[in-house]
Amino acid sequence: MSPDGPSSDDPREGPVLVVDFGAQYAQLIARRVREAHVYSEIVSHTSTAAELAARNPAGIILSGGPKSVNETPAPSLDPAVYDLGVPILGICYGAQLLASQLGGTVDRTGRGEYGRTPLNLTARSPIFEDWPDESQVWMSHGDAITEVPDGFQGTASSPDAPVAALHDPDRRIYGVQFHPEVVHTEHGRDLLERFLMDVCHCPPSWTHTSIIEHQVEAVRAQVGTAPVLCALSGGVDSAVAAALVHKAVGEQLTCVYVDTGLMRANESEQVEETFRTQFHMDLVHVKAADRFFEALAGVTDPERKRKIIGELFIRIFEETARDLVAEKGTEDGDHPGEAAGFLVQGTLYPDVIESGSGTAATIKSHHNVGGLPDDLAFDLVEPLRLLFKDEVRAVGEELGLPHEIVWRQPFPGPGLAVRIVGEVTRERAEILRAADAIVVEEVRRAGLYRELWQSFAVLPAVRTVGVMGDGRTYAYPVVIRAVTSDDAMTADWARLPYDLLERMSSRIINEVEGVNRVALDITSKPPGTIEWE
Ligand code: XMP
Repeated sequence: MSPDGPSSDDPREGPVLVVDFGAQYAQLIARRVREAHVYSEIVSHTSTAAELAARNPAGIILSGGPKSVNETPAPSLDPAVYDLGVPILGICYGAQLLASQLGGTVDRTGRGEYGRTPLNLTARSPIFEDWPDESQVWMSHGDAITEVPDGFQGTASSPDAPVAALHDPDRRIYGVQFHPEVVHTEHGRDLLERFLMDVCHCPPSWTHTSIIEHQVEAVRAQVGTAPVLCALSGGVDSAVAAALVHKAVGEQLTCVYVDTGLMRANESEQVEETFRTQFHMDLVHVKAADRFFEALAGVTDPERKRKIIGELFIRIFEETARDLVAEKGTEDGDHPGEAAGFLVQGTLYPDVIESGSGTAATIKSHHNVGGLPDDLAFDLVEPLRLLFKDEVRAVGEELGLPHEIVWRQPFPGPGLAVRIVGEVTRERAEILRAADAIVVEEVRRAGLYRELWQSFAVLPAVRTVGVMGDGRTYAYPVVIRAVTSDDAMTADWARLPYDLLERMSSRIINEVEGVNRVALDITSKPPGTIEWE
């Protein structure tokens, strides 16, 4: 899907290609392969054998998928792939597919297996090196392989899968009915490592240092001596992208940080401290809070708020960019028809895969700085486009970014505005920022910050009656929102300890003027969203 990854003429240095048969199975497999320090990429099952061969792969892994091989239509694979001489590992659907395409039989036995299942080895196989004869694996199948193709041998069985694993070691084709990529499969990692190291002979060369070296070279080659701009948001992706590009081209990079007045507490100071003081970057800090509050005055509709913020952000970024290009672009002289410069984007690999598949492509469009006018003519630099989020964090640590930035919870582009129900004013933003800082501080103190996907405060548009000291109060409530999640598509409300909730509640009421009540949001997603607007 992305032909610009590391490549080499050495047959063992090509990527391991993970063929995607649907759902999210392929991403997890690709991440596990990379955790074994082998570069992997996800490709569509519609790729031809010639297209796969052109990538010079060290190995091919066929992923699981939600369909049955006996359904029509069911996603298939160009059968010439089996004759490429490249080692193949089929997982779940992938194992059934290779068994069926190579002449074996896959039947609906009526006895599927779901969840933890005992596995017995029935023959030795290089991928089961060091496995005990009996272990627990994670299964999720309705169909089962009942006859292996010619030249193959069954190598493991489970109570309801007579062929739970199979191989043809001469052709280096392997299949497992269970999921070695999930943590519930004991020794799953060992199996993947044996396939990668002993069958494919991949060197464990995909390390954070090698990622950085490779990207630094790629960025240098792409931008030459042209000026590069990066919009910093305070979030982890733009921070790591900026640090990486700075390592590559130093002073050619200018970072623009637009303070909308809707940032978290200390966020602006931390961006200054990290990028200006520690990294000595050329940082333009645009203090634009007044403009944002002015534009948001009287607006209560959530979608209008988002739109106003997005458009104003782009306008401000554009003004700043024009000034910078005018200033920096002159040094090189004019190159008619060439880009005025480059713009860094923190696009990650899952976004690239999503866009490539043409299905979930629009999900993240509003998260990036988009819609810059054509006459600015920027080319994009996307140094993270091959990386998963966990790799981005590891690279950030390796580059020396502070933990606080690298492990920061996600924060929406429109900032605190989507957590202030009703009108967004400077005063209400101050109240929320102060309450939010307490929530985050107490969550950190309780050691729960990394465990939670997000934890923050919300400011509703109502006021309620309370009593403080001798007097009646009429002030805002603050709602605590804390969720666990893997990908923000679904989320569960976090069961925070009572003593933590108690500390948050009493600190917020004592320390934040304008608040007299604290509530807890106990809604999962769906039906609720994570943010309130
Ligand atoms: P919801 O509220 O839809 O949020 O459950 C899912 C995830 O996306 C984040 N989010 C945004 N991020 N711009 C962003 O960059 C936005 O407009 C935006 N809205 C929601 C949210 O924080 C959560 O992680």
